[in-house]
Amino acid sequence: MGEWLRWARHPPTREETAGFRAEQDADWDAGRSFVYVLTPPDRLDQVLGGGAMFPNGEEGVLEIGYWICSPATGRGLATRAAAALTEEGLGLPGIKAMEIHCDQANARSAGIPPRLGYRLLRIEPDEPQTPAEAGRSMVWRHDGT
Ligand SMILES: CC(C)(COP(=O)(O)OP(=O)(O)OC[C@H]1O[C@@H](n2cnc3c(N)ncnc32)[C@H](O)[C@@H]1OP(=O)(O)O)[C@@H](O)C(=O)NCCC(=O)NCCS
Repeated sequence: MGEWLRWARHPPTREETAGFRAEQDADWDAGRSFVYVLTPPDRLDQVLGGGAMFPNGEEGVLEIGYWICSPATGRGLATRAAAALTEEGLGLPGIKAMEIHCDQANARSAGIPPRLGYRLLRIEPDEPQTPAEAGRSMVWRHDGT
């Protein structure tokens, strides 16, 4: 996971975890971003992955992101999580489209948006967040059709 996510490159300290949670709570309350945790239905203490939904600056557009803990990958969980966030976002008042941005080198992540009906809108330069990233971001969009 740390190959693609800067924050996952080392296990967080207790202080970092507490700070992250406080930040996410404040962002949720302010409508800046909405972070979700993925767990089995009967084991709410077992984190399998997570996702986030946030306004990305364009009126009426929400962006989503997702990650799955390495042992839980390969079961379609990211696809299902992204599908749920997409459906949720498109159902919100005033939302005309959803976006997924992923680095061009992250082939596993890039396989998810087309599976859910997203279309590739553009590829743009982006500052690499990790050494594995190519620095070119694929922007995928779903307009609900
Ligand atoms: C990229 C990442 C999210 C993929 O997670 P995942 O749960 O394995 O992804 P998917 O939902 O696409 O699962 C696909 C696999 O599950 C299998 N699968 C099983 N049931 C499935 C179902 N119902 N639907 C879809 N795929 C299914 C597929 O055959 C595929 O197997 P394969 O990998 O052997 O080809 C995960 O590797 C990750 O967290 N990476 C680091 C973070 C990251 O890159 N996030 C995205 C940033 S843009």
